[in-house]
Amino acid sequence: MANINILVGSVTGKALSAGSAIQEVFNGQGHHAQLFANAAIEQVTDEAVDVLLIVTSSTGQGDLPASLVPLYAQLQSEFPLIPNKKFAVVALGDSSYSTFCQAGATMEELMFELQGQALCERFNIDACEHFNPLDAARGWALDCVKRL
Ligand SMILES: Cc1cc2nc3c(=O)[nH]c(=O)nc-3n(C[C@H](O)[C@H](O)[C@H](O)COP(=O)(O)O)c2cc1C
Repeated sequence: MANINILVGSVTGKALSAGSAIQEVFNGQGHHAQLFANAAIEQVTDEAVDVLLIVTSSTGQGDLPASLVPLYAQLQSEFPLIPNKKFAVVALGDSSYSTFCQAGATMEELMFELQGQALCERFNIDACEHFNPLDAARGWALDCVKRL
């Protein structure tokens, strides 16, 4: 059983719903997944946590949702290395923006800089293809959970 923290960045709630769907899948497979809508650095550095799943939309021009900005700033300034943690990023966005899924890419880059180990490739969910991102999120989670 893996301890998983799901760190969500959401503006209008789609990434939050996707995060909940992912949480259900991981818990349904016998893992212990907790979801945080306003995560702080402790949720990243907690030694009991094996896996970090970041589920975030993009806002503005490829910006992080406000709920992830404090975490991002804390991680940038304290820079805790996490070589023993696996991570994965699910990015919600809209391909009509030139900054498609940029917030997810930004979080992924930071996880790599902190020496996290990628569990699965970043998964982009395009609002132009999926009005409801939940099915896509569940499908991804069912694949990703097999890697644990
Ligand atoms: C004001 C605004 C700005 C957005 N900017 C981007 C963007 O830069 N890149 C992108 O891929 N999607 C962008 N989107 C699309 C959202 O990321 C997408 O609709 C997502 O599913 C919303 O998820 P949320 O409800 O969790 O915030 C933007 C949407 C809005 C309303």
